Amino acid sequence: MALVPAAGLGTRFHEGGPKALVLLAGKPLLVHVLERLHASGRVTEAVVAYQPGSEEAFRAVLAAAPLPVRLVSGGVERRDSVVAALEASGAADDALVLVHDAARPLVDPIEVAAVVDAAATHGAAIAGHAMVDTVKRIKGGKVVETVPRIDLLSATTPQVFRAGLLRKAHAKAPEAIVTDDAELVERSGGSVAVVLTSRWNLKITYPEDLTWAEAWLARAGG
Ligand code: CTP
Ligand code: MG
Repeated sequence: MALVPAAGLGTRFHEGGPKALVLLAGKPLLVHVLERLHASGRVTEAVVAYQPGSEEAFRAVLAAAPLPVRLVSGGVERRDSVVAALEASGAADDALVLVHDAARPLVDPIEVAAVVDAAATHGAAIAGHAMVDTVKRIKGGKVVETVPRIDLLSATTPQVFRAGLLRKAHAKAPEAIVTDDAELVERSGGSVAVVLTSRWNLKITYPEDLTWAEAWLARAGG
């Protein structure tokens, strides 16, 4: 079961309108995502959290989805959208749920399968890649320290959990401001396995990210 938070406005990308419906190579980001999750062979249904007020636009786009999709109204923060999708999924506590951002349309289906398989063994697993830049902590425009990057991971999605673990993690810290679900599982004492992936699982955040994604798709032959 996939949970796809797609309710964001994309304020860093454009002014207004759901970013999940932006076209990449003529196809909405959300459709790219659902096709790639389906192609992993590990996902047979999905719940998509849509931007409140845009249900009809989402419904129209999802006519092209390769797998059965349920729509649920998203929340104010990403974590609220994930919880809404999780509850709508009705997933049993021991079932695996895969969370993947609608904003990551280039995810590799083989890597999706690898994260699901790691979570089947460990109970929780996330995708990510090594950092390439040197990382420095700064304050007031000045460098405070250089952080050894050998220990650092750029964490992405998919993130796969046993549904019960994810439910408990969200319930334990209902007010926490987080940008991914694994942080909540970490906070609640859960162990999270890592699957190293390609850096091409980029997130469409700024307009130029779409240019990178178009170039990658053109090179990969669609
Ligand atoms: N998301 C969501 N519900 C929210 C906020 C975000 O479902 N209330 C989803 C987005 O649709 C996206 C994913 O979470 O698929 C990652 O969020 P991000 O890339 O930050 O997208 P936006 O929040 O839409 O963009 P911005 O932060 O620039 O407004
Ligand atoms: Mg956001």
